[in-house]
This record gives sequence, C-alpha cells and structure tokens, in this order.
Amino acid sequence: MNIGIDKIGFFTSDLFLDMAELATARNEDPNKYLIGIGQKKAAVIRNSQDSVTLAANAASKIIDDADRQKIDLILFGTESGVDNSKSGSVYLQHLLGINQSASGVELKQACFGLTAGIRLAMGHIMMKPDSRVLLVGSDIARYGLHSSGEVTQGGGAVAMIMSANPRIMTISKEYSHYTKDIMDFWRPLGFSEALVDGKYSSDEFIQFFLKTYNAYKDMTKLESSDFEALVFHLPFTKMGYKALRAGIEDETVEEQNRLFEAFDESKQLSQIVGNLYTGSLYLSLISLLINRELKQNDIIGLFSYGSGAEGEFFSGKINNYDKQSLIESLKWLDQRKQVTVKEYERIYLSAMLDSDDFETDYREDPAKFILKGQKNHQRIYGEH
Ligand code: HMG
Repeated sequence: MNIGIDKIGFFTSDLFLDMAELATARNEDPNKYLIGIGQKKAAVIRNSQDSVTLAANAASKIIDDADRQKIDLILFGTESGVDNSKSGSVYLQHLLGINQSASGVELKQACFGLTAGIRLAMGHIMMKPDSRVLLVGSDIARYGLHSSGEVTQGGGAVAMIMSANPRIMTISKEYSHYTKDIMDFWRPLGFSEALVDGKYSSDEFIQFFLKTYNAYKDMTKLESSDFEALVFHLPFTKMGYKALRAGIEDETVEEQNRLFEAFDESKQLSQIVGNLYTGSLYLSLISLLINRELKQNDIIGLFSYGSGAEGEFFSGKINNYDKQSLIESLKWLDQRKQVTVKEYERIYLSAMLDSDDFETDYREDPAKFILKGQKNHQRIYGEH
C-alpha cells in the first residue's frame, strides 16, 4: 500500500522583521545574518497566536467537510505546547469542527515531533487503510532578545493530511534513525526561551545527518545520484547547506551542483520565515514542491533533527500533485507587513507567558483563529 502526504498547508504570522535591520540594531554586519546565517526575514508572532491557533490556521487551509468527517486521528507535534496535561489536538479538533470520534495526541521531541507523527500515521493507516490522519507541527521559536540565537527565531505551522494513495508524496517505509542523549538545545520547565549551546548543536546536527544519511543509503542501496533533492530541518538555512556539503563532499562537482541547486529551492520559505521547529523540515518540502520542476517518481530525501537529540532520514516519491494550486495557496505570504526592530521588541515582550489572566491584542490580528486571552488559567480561543 502507498501511504504518504495527500494535502499540505502552511501558516505563519502576517508580520515579519527584516534581518539586515536586526543586524544593524545589534551592531552586527548585516552580511553575517544574510550570508553567514542565511536568513533574510523572520516571522514575528503576535501575542494573539500560540501553537494551537497557528496549527488551526494552518489546518484550516487544507481541510474540507469530507476531511472533517473522515479524519480519525490527529497528531500534534510541538515543543511550544500551551498545557502540560491537555493535548493541543483536543483544542484543534474543536476549533476545526472535526468529528468527535477522532482521537488525538500531542507529540514532543524538540523539532522531531512531527516526524514522529509521520511514523505513527504510517502504522495507523496500514491498519486502517481508509483513514485520513491530520498532522500538524506548530511552534514559536523564541530565544532571548540580543542573544546569538535571536537571528534564528521564527514561527508558524505546517499541516498535512496523510492517507493511502496520497496525491503529493508517498513516504518510504524504510527510515534510519539515531538517538543520543545530549544537551545541545533545551527549554527547562517554566522557561519561556530556549537555552542552547549553539556551536555544539550545529556540529551535532551535521553528525546526525551523516550517520542517518549513510545508514539509509546502506539500507536501501540508493546513492546520492538517486535523489532529486535532499531537504532538511532548517533552524537557519546555512545549517542545511553545511550538512549537505558534508554529506556529498565525495560526489562529482556536477552532482554536488545539482543537489545544491535543489537545496536552494527548498530553503526559500525558511529564509523568509525563520525556524518553525517541528514544521521546519516540511516547510522545506513545500518550498521544493513550489520551486522545483519535479516529476512523478522523483525521490526526495528528508532529514529531520530534534535537539536532545534525535535524527531521522527517510525518503518520499513524488506523485502527480497540483503545483499551481500549492503556489496560489501561499500567495498571502507576499502581503505580510514589515515591523521595525522597536515594534518587534514590543511584540516579543508582550507575549503574556507568565500571566494567569490576560487579554491579547487579538483585534489587530487578521488571522482566522486567535487567542483572545486567558482566565482562571483557561485559554479563550476565538474565530474572526
Ligand atoms: P554566532 O555564534 O553569533 O555566529 O551564532 P557565528 O559567529 O558562528 O557566525 C555565523 C556565521 O556567519 C559564521 O559562518 C561566520 O563566519 C559568518 P560559519 O563559520 O558558520 O560558516 N559571518 C559572516 N559571513 C558573512 N559576512 C560577515 C560575517 N560575519 C560572520 N560579515 C549560532 C550562530 C547558530 C550559534 C546561533 O545563531 C544559535 O545559537 N542559534 C540557535 C541554535 C541553532 O539553531 N542550532 C542549529 C542546530 S540545532 C537544531 O537544529 C534544533 C533546533 O531547531 C531546536 C529543536 O530541535 O527544537 C534549534
């Protein structure tokens, strides 16, 4: 049975910050951010958006009434969850009007959460071939103001429906996985910003890629030349470039250029949105799907990395997807509004992460689903 991605959609904030302006405000050479890190813009997430509303906004772009009836499992990958007990999937199911026979669960392992969902969905669909599974990776990447991680912030959500006979991409049953208990990036309970050992995390990212990519090639007998593209989790786009460079250094120059060109097409969206954490790898995939001339049966390699750390490499075979409608579905990205560094800092500080009761600035937020506030520790969501 062919199982994979039948629909895919993306949502982020209507606001962005220009990375050259951030560099100037932080007394850095803009080329460090633009070239050294490889980021042009970062999404600025309003205080009226959290991982649940970002997920609902992404999923609402792809689900229709038939999906609302047929979805029987919701897998919610996040590391910016809003509750230590209740799963984001329950809020999502309600906000989207998905039938109440569907079950759901939240999955956490840093940026790996959504890929863990893919594995669970594969097994679920093998047992129930008629099912449609909704998967969402939704996060806000938040480091400290003035920290070296600040340039790698971002946020948003990718939603997918997985099923048998998928229209976009069939996912391989084979995958290679590597886990090692390390402290490269983490967010202790009660912290609203991540702690990170930046250089160490970057080195480990490359090592995890090499281990899983080589193991996958051994397992499947595929070679680099069999892949139309290799796409990456992109905490910042230079990270993927460095891992790719290390993985294909023994290939011919012609082969390297082909894969670098495909990588360039896959990094376009991350470069103007920033790190999405769980959704990031799948944003690279969307970027490839809209920017590259792909043919049916082209093989795409995907590398997922979640700090702490778990890495996984797997592949997908392209089906006959509707490229034009995917392009149309992302047109709204061109309408985003630029904010100044001052305005970004105000929004950053207005996130009411430690408050019990609060009201957000939701009236200014054009998104369909919004967080209005919180009362008695209970979130109040709304719809425009
Ligand atoms: P930094 O230490 O300030 O940067 O922060 P740097 O000094 O290393 O410079 C970066 C690059 O810019 C260097 O290039 C410089 O040479 C270059 P490289 O040596 O790396 O090739 N540069 C310039 N280039 C052009 N013109 C110039 C110029 N000046 C310097 N004028 C760091 C960088 C990534 C450490 C920081 O941003 C950080 O800590 N980020 C967060 C951590 C992170 O994203 N790690 C990635 C791997 S871990 C991961 O992917 C998991 C994650 O998504 C979380 C999860 O799983 O949940 C993060």
